[in-house]
Amino acid sequence: MMKKQDDVSKTKTSVNPIFTTKLGVLLVTLGSAVGLGNIWKFPALTGMNGGAAFVLIYLLCAVVLGLPVMLAEHAMGREGRKDVIGTMQKLAPKSLWWVIGAIGILAAFLIMSFYSEVAGWVVAYIGKAVTLGRLSTDPATNSQIFTDLVTDPAQSLIWQWVVLLATGLIIALGVVKGIEATIKRSLPLLFVLLVIVIVRSVTLPGAAAGLEFLFKPDWSKVTFTTVLTALGLAFFKLSVGMGCMMTYGAYFRKDQDIPVTATRIVLLDLLISMMAGLAIFPAVFAFGFEPTAGASLLFITIPAVFASMPFGNFFMIIFFFLTALAAMGAILSLLEVITSYLENNFKLKRATATAVTIGGIALFGVPAALSNSSTASWLVFGKTFFDFYDFVTSNILLTVGGLLISIFVGWVWKYPKLNAQLSNQGELQNEKVNKFFFFMLKFVTPVLIFLILLSGFGLVK
Ligand code: PFF
Repeated sequence: MMKKQDDVSKTKTSVNPIFTTKLGVLLVTLGSAVGLGNIWKFPALTGMNGGAAFVLIYLLCAVVLGLPVMLAEHAMGREGRKDVIGTMQKLAPKSLWWVIGAIGILAAFLIMSFYSEVAGWVVAYIGKAVTLGRLSTDPATNSQIFTDLVTDPAQSLIWQWVVLLATGLIIALGVVKGIEATIKRSLPLLFVLLVIVIVRSVTLPGAAAGLEFLFKPDWSKVTFTTVLTALGLAFFKLSVGMGCMMTYGAYFRKDQDIPVTATRIVLLDLLISMMAGLAIFPAVFAFGFEPTAGASLLFITIPAVFASMPFGNFFMIIFFFLTALAAMGAILSLLEVITSYLENNFKLKRATATAVTIGGIALFGVPAALSNSSTASWLVFGKTFFDFYDFVTSNILLTVGGLLISIFVGWVWKYPKLNAQLSNQGELQNEKVNKFFFFMLKFVTPVLIFLILLSGFGLVK
């Protein structure tokens, strides 16, 4: 039984073959977590939600709620060894718990539809570092450059399709096997580059105001909606609540220490996010940008930092290139959620499953890509398609998914099964840790997520 269950190297999937070393598992899973959520979304939301107080709530959400859900997903995935729906059906046959998987697939699809657009902007900015010549520190100039890009329907579509096509090619060419090697090099490089940008950013005249914004909480700005936004961001950044970590968990080695791996991912993900914040906010205040700029914040501020550095254009190329690579790690994991399901259930070949998924995303992605131009007036619940996809996934699908996962583990799957996975069938002497996480999943996580959801939607005050 054990033997059969753990012999995953022969199951056909693209990600599988890379999960051959413990470090590889950590890297690829980290590759899913670290992405535009850290570099683009975290600074954008922190800026829009008043800074330090939001960061603190977000940190709590990531550690107290995100970490238990992440290790629960890894454990369930490794037990199920299937796609999200398949795993849920295996863990809870003849029940409705497969809905967790369905939520995950829908979320992956919708996230891809706007995420690929932001990744497209990142790729476009690699080009801008070359074509712009002298970079500017002027807020008006930088905002205009960004606006020109996102309000041009042709460019918006083309860059999104470039990303989707590149993703398809990576998978078709089997380069996925290279992800582990790529992430191994690109993440440390991104880390080093962030350090360089931080050093420049915090030494700019007037940078202190940015540090204060990031570290000195002003609780007056916090509302229930802020807490829901922080929770949604924490889940989004950790790729949890939608079966992505479950899908990857299915490829984990049997001797992978799940609690340690998940804790490392959460900590490293937090570190990269804080570094992005430190790179951006001091510069925002030093140059007089608006911290509330939202989606444009990264794209208008980072060029200004590079403008005030020797070899700025060169560094800007590398920065956006590494960000694009980080986005690619996340995109591949999102695709994996959908394609592994299509492969298993419709007996599609990987290539066909990928082509179908990417085609669907290209279609659903169109209104999101054109949200700043042709479809700007098409509003769903008062939001553009881009904002709607973003809001529904982070604030509803991922949080509800996380809630259901914790209820499932705490009340249906129960401790012995969770412990068997978290302790590698008793090989690791970590009962205390596992008991603690089980307690969290049974009582703390579901109650808190439920309350945050209710209050976030104004149902309790
Ligand atoms: N965690 C990724 C990021 O922060 O960019 C985004 C993401 C990837 C969300 C995979 C959800 C997911 F399943």
